[in-house]
Amino acid sequence: MSDDNRGSRFAAVALLSFWLAAAHGGEPSLIQNAASRPGMTLNGKWHVIVDPYENGYYDYRREPFDAATPPRGGYFLDRKPADRSDLVEYDFDTSPTLTVPGDWNSQEERLFYYEGSVWYRRKFDFTPSSPGKRTFVRFGAANYQADVYLNGRKLGRHVGGFTPFEFEITGLVKPADNSLVVKVDNARHPDAVPTVNTDWWNYGGLTRDVAIVETPAAFIRDYQVQLEKGSARRIAARVQLDGVNAPVKVTLSVAGVNVSAMSDAAGVATFSLAAPKLALWSPENPKLYGVSISAGDDHVDDRVGFRNIAVRGTDILLNGRSIFLRGISLHEENPLRGGRAYSEEDARMLLGWAKELGCNFVRLAHYPHNEHMARVADEMGLMLWEEVPVYWTIQWENPATLANARTQLTELITRDRNRASVIVWSVANETPVSEPRTRFLKQLVDTARALDDTRLVSAAMEVHADPANPNHRIVDDPFGAYTDLLSFNQYVGWYDGLPDKLAQITWSFGYQKPVVISEFGADALQGFHGDRLTRFSEEYQEDLYLKTIAMLERIPQWRGTTPWILADFRSPRRPLPNVQDGWNRKGLIGENGTKKKAFYVLKDFYDRKASQ
Ligand code: GCU
Repeated sequence: MSDDNRGSRFAAVALLSFWLAAAHGGEPSLIQNAASRPGMTLNGKWHVIVDPYENGYYDYRREPFDAATPPRGGYFLDRKPADRSDLVEYDFDTSPTLTVPGDWNSQEERLFYYEGSVWYRRKFDFTPSSPGKRTFVRFGAANYQADVYLNGRKLGRHVGGFTPFEFEITGLVKPADNSLVVKVDNARHPDAVPTVNTDWWNYGGLTRDVAIVETPAAFIRDYQVQLEKGSARRIAARVQLDGVNAPVKVTLSVAGVNVSAMSDAAGVATFSLAAPKLALWSPENPKLYGVSISAGDDHVDDRVGFRNIAVRGTDILLNGRSIFLRGISLHEENPLRGGRAYSEEDARMLLGWAKELGCNFVRLAHYPHNEHMARVADEMGLMLWEEVPVYWTIQWENPATLANARTQLTELITRDRNRASVIVWSVANETPVSEPRTRFLKQLVDTARALDDTRLVSAAMEVHADPANPNHRIVDDPFGAYTDLLSFNQYVGWYDGLPDKLAQITWSFGYQKPVVISEFGADALQGFHGDRLTRFSEEYQEDLYLKTIAMLERIPQWRGTTPWILADFRSPRRPLPNVQDGWNRKGLIGENGTKKKAFYVLKDFYDRKASQ
């Protein structure tokens, strides 16, 4: 550590590790960049049992089998009849299979609408590469609640459908014939996050990669390497070790600079180093640097971009320069294949479409997308807005719901904190103004800022009309006092009047902050044509885009937008036959990948903006 305000830095680090532990319920944080570690994939075919009555989890008295020691039953035992008289009423080996990663809804017609529990079982052999190694099983995500068992023993439960989780299985894993069983339940509940009502498909299952991850006994569990807040030439880093009980020398090398520091009693080493020759990351120059961290027998490599993001008055500054966010919103769905997107190829396709549109920014709605998205965005030079599914009417006064939302936010930030592409953490979407709601969201803002004070924090906030003049719209959501952006959704011309109304609309803002329109749009069935007043026609959508852009250009503090939405997506709230058929049609690209007229309206505007 070079400069002399060591005291305040240690205080900062102590506070940070307290926050990290507290926000994670005392659990160690996720293993950073686990995908770069040795191990073994468990992707592929898993045998499954569809269990709508949770018969494999509860006995007929509705007592959970895994609460008893030893358990008297339960599919997690993965039992076989001991002999011809032994009664076992399930058998994974002769049960159907599903592919992991992947949701069950798009894999099996009979499971398209299914909400409930499905048991997944995977057999595997694994021998650690050398004695003394530690072994973890890691899930990229499982929607919504996952109960995980290894060789009949409960490892734990994870709640939240869009963030990673892992369990240590050192000493539990056998060289051969391990039985990994996961009960995945995507049933919706009022106290959950999200709650029972959403405008996206509730895809269930092991929706992302599953892998065995191996580490040395003492290893680098977490790290954050970024530009120091407000600096363009100093890097700040924090490395959290696991399994150490004495100070260890930690070496960091980045951009040709090598520095070492000793870890403290909490296994934390911090760095502050000058990097005079750093080329800053930006959409125009998405420069990534190799970063290497070593400590004891452990070593991790990563690719990191260095950039600064800040707000000043009504401006958004990237590396000190005012920028306009040429954005689009998107769901984590591959419309061409159907179902949840999960792979690097999916990320390249979706973000590639956004690049074609002329974007430098993408809103990943309304929940954490898979890890490939941020890594591909780092490479492609797309800035990201990442969000947790605090969506519509959450139980604001339920402490368990708040803890759940905070955990999801913490897991997201921990996972993507080294991605230069991520510039905004969003804590909510379209949540009705009330005191309990604003208090709830404020606590999420505090969690985000404590975990990462280098990025912007916001949400899709509420708008209301001036009672004296309905065409005068006011954005003074009390929650706006705590955010860096004034971002909100507006649907004038679709849910509110016709596109001609847009010319009448005027805006007032309760805060001198950058205005970002996080959603606007209209449904259009690709290939359906009519005049500009015909709902669901491409011409209606085209006209709405033209008129919305004209309205927004009249807002002096307008600094960006993420129209709703890049591609049509599945929603159980959209039944209109022969038009929607279970799809929200607000995409600029149809479910078959064909671009609609409005795609080119937005592209023209962005090309014009980019050349200014
Ligand atoms: C809302 C919401 C989206 C939804 C969209 C729509 O604003 O945030 O999730 O899909 O409107 O109605 O199409």
